[in-house]
Amino acid sequence: MISTKYWSLTNDELKNRQDIQEAADLIKKGTIVAFPTETVYGLGADATNEKAVEKIFVAKGRPQDNPLIAHVATTEQLQKLVNHLPAYAEKLIKAFTPGPITFVLQSNGICAPNVSAGLDTVAIRIPDHPVAQQLLLNCDLPVAAPSANTSGKPSPTTADHVVADLFGKIAGILDGGQTGVGMESTVIDCTQESGPTILRPGGITQEQLECVIGKVGIDPALADSHEQPISPGLKYKHYSPEVPLILVEGPFEKIQKVVDREQSNSLRIGVLASTYVAEKIEADEVIALGNNIEEIATNLYSSLRSFSKDDIDLIICESFSEKGIGQAVMNRLRKAANSLVKD
Ligand code: TXA
Ligand code: MG
Repeated sequence: MISTKYWSLTNDELKNRQDIQEAADLIKKGTIVAFPTETVYGLGADATNEKAVEKIFVAKGRPQDNPLIAHVATTEQLQKLVNHLPAYAEKLIKAFTPGPITFVLQSNGICAPNVSAGLDTVAIRIPDHPVAQQLLLNCDLPVAAPSANTSGKPSPTTADHVVADLFGKIAGILDGGQTGVGMESTVIDCTQESGPTILRPGGITQEQLECVIGKVGIDPALADSHEQPISPGLKYKHYSPEVPLILVEGPFEKIQKVVDREQSNSLRIGVLASTYVAEKIEADEVIALGNNIEEIATNLYSSLRSFSKDDIDLIICESFSEKGIGQAVMNRLRKAANSLVKD
């Protein structure tokens, strides 16, 4: 156990607080600190300090071959970490930063080798959250930060989730309330002159990217589970709640049928569904995720975490349309699921 500092920032104190300076000092000293971003909470270390970065892998139990994202406050700082920016990448950076998007680019070696897990590329993101921005400005360093959860679990969208996974394992936690987007950033490979490829769908949608630069490729492994994903992290089991999960395609009646069938096997069933479906379903526990796909994205991870195996044996989750941020929601749900019931 190490001692974990906890700083609670209320809404009107999100910037310029002494607490953020203290957190930045801990990162500069080579320890690791969790902080809020607009997507999920991150676990930050000085990205130029290999020993500090190693602490992230240990605290999370993260596989060594899964590279991290380097976070910076400004476009100028991003440019200092790479050899080259294709013209389309400059357009995307202008359009979407700060924001929920991560650019994979040719590394110039300023970030420590374990940030990139030995690859010659580096993933970089400029987060759009007042606490993250202030922390990065105070650090004046690239900050390597994966999501601040134990490897394999759903990403943290509140400081309570970080406490549950990492208290006693990290130097500090900055509590800035619930995150907004709720899904991680879009990871986009910009190493090819010919055009970009989405490696992980996220907060900036394929439709939004295509509005700016035209057709954008997508890693074939995202559609076909037999393909090996390009992004190293995506081959691991992820986003898993404590309780097994079945994803069900189809209307309310179909979901209720699967609930009834499993209850007749004496299982206690929890349901995750859009508010419209949740209002009609009968099960042991029902969580309404929201009225639209943005609300569903915001609430998904905390809802996945709220089911306990003491109360529920199986989660049955509605399957959503892949439009907009639905592409990211369904990518995460397919990874969390133990099986899929087709329409
Ligand atoms: O929204 C987010 O992106 C959050 C917040 C904290 O910024 N971070 C996050 O980090 O989700 P993490 O470590 O959980 O996911 C990073 C993803 C992994 O799938 C990893 O494999 C991929 O980015 N990645 C990192 N560096 C890469 C690289 N050089 N090439 C390809 N994929 C890379
Ligand atoms: Mg993660």
